Amino acid sequence: MRTPIIAGNWKMNKTIAEATALVREMRRELNEIEGVEKVLCPPFTALSAVAELLQATKIKLGAQEMHCEEKGAFTGAISPLMLKELCQYVIIGHSERRKYFGETDEGVNRKVKVAFQHGLIPIICVGENLEQNEAGQTEEWVSGQVRAALDGLAAEQVKELVMAYEPIWAIGTGKPATAAGANAIIGLVIRGTVASMFGEDAAQAVRVQYGGSVKPANVVEFMTQPEIDGALVGGACLAADKFVAIARLAAEIKGTHK
Ligand code: 13P
Repeated sequence: MRTPIIAGNWKMNKTIAEATALVREMRRELNEIEGVEKVLCPPFTALSAVAELLQATKIKLGAQEMHCEEKGAFTGAISPLMLKELCQYVIIGHSERRKYFGETDEGVNRKVKVAFQHGLIPIICVGENLEQNEAGQTEEWVSGQVRAALDGLAAEQVKELVMAYEPIWAIGTGKPATAAGANAIIGLVIRGTVASMFGEDAAQAVRVQYGGSVKPANVVEFMTQPEIDGALVGGACLAADKFVAIARLAAEIKGTHK
């Protein structure tokens, strides 16, 4: 049985002071929610402060990005060695990294391998843009992204990692994918591609989140879908009450303690 996972991608939001306030506001309630994994992904600058606040809780910490080298002359970059002291997870290949920062499928694949070398669990983002969606290219595109991201991994690693299906047209638009549509892409395309590369066991074990305009009012629809194992939440994770509500609803529907 797959443990559901609700992660909040804070993106470029929250100073250290604001991050601390947000975590203090939701920490107790979030921690008490059982049967789902809860992950916060604040910006790099707030990781250390948030890590301290999460000590003695079961809430996990993730970074939003990572460089593939351990150290060296890469001005402005953050390495896996730096992150492994703080985080359990790292988001790799978010569409905003691909769009604004030149992230490539090759880069994603390299970072995924490096994450495993350092004991970090990657949350790998894939998803098509509106044009591709309207042209009927979603399946081919997403399958290609999955193939590229997972190339050369071992099946045991694939079983541990997390994928997030985030259609670009649903991110920050208030227009989520339909739950049935996301379920189909995750089941047929993402798990289908994983099955063809690593076998059915890996395809059934890998956890796949949906991301794109998830909020308390629609999370139930997504969580009642059999192929969807959780959510990668952007905007709604910046409000304590919303993120707690999302995690709580996910636990009620999918929680592994039931
Ligand atoms: P929104 O929830 O704001 O649409 O963002 C989704 C996302 O990109 C999470 O990584």
